[in-house]
Amino acid sequence: MFIAANWKMNLDKKSILEFTKSLQKFKFSNHINTCIFPPLTYIDYLHNLIKNLPISIGGQNCHFKSFGAFTGEVSANFLKDTGCEYVLIGHSERRILNNENNAEIKSRAETAINSSLKVILCIGENLADRKEGKAVDYIEKQLNDCLPNNFHNSFIAYEPIWSIGTGKIPSSFEIQEMHTHIKKILYKKLNKNINVLYGGSVNVKNINDILDITNVDGVLVGGASLNAKDFLAIYSAAVKHLDISL
Ligand code: 13P
Repeated sequence: MFIAANWKMNLDKKSILEFTKSLQKFKFSNHINTCIFPPLTYIDYLHNLIKNLPISIGGQNCHFKSFGAFTGEVSANFLKDTGCEYVLIGHSERRILNNENNAEIKSRAETAINSSLKVILCIGENLADRKEGKAVDYIEKQLNDCLPNNFHNSFIAYEPIWSIGTGKIPSSFEIQEMHTHIKKILYKKLNKNINVLYGGSVNVKNINDILDITNVDGVLVGGASLNAKDFLAIYSAAVKHLDISL
């Protein structure tokens, strides 16, 4: 079970310090993997504040080259160097706002894995494709186009674009259908079972229903992870869910 927090471009130094005070009072489970993806500039700061806790840290993106004349970009090696274990690749906000295409995303993921980072590769359809019944085919193509050959120790996050930050989520059937399909494709390609996280408007109210869905191996939380109380409530729901299923 994996609970991941994508803070995007939110939370400054002061808010991060407050957030971590709540984390320090909390009793974490050994059975849940947790990772926070803070803004790039605070990776080191957060890393130092939670070094004693079983929480990993990840970057929100990395470049496909390890170093060079790429002003404003970040190297997978540098993320690794500052204590990151994970990196998000192909988030729809980057695909849309930074024009990242599948080929580039594949190359970023490949470089990250070669730098010993674990990748959370994000995929997701838009509302038009969902409405026209094309979501499953769209995701299959997206996955085929952006999955690097060296994909190991890594995860997929299924994040329908229309669900991010909107409060709308697919039905349990739609999530199950998609996750099952993604796992099937990955098994065929890689001959191993890859964990698939769900992301898009996950919150304290819907977390139990989402975790109950077959083939949901965890969640990637945006908005609701910005508040320590909500984030820890989501985490606690995962612990409870695991206790029941063990
Ligand atoms: P929200 O949880 O705010 O919808 O964001 C999801 C997301 O984009 C996580 O990467």
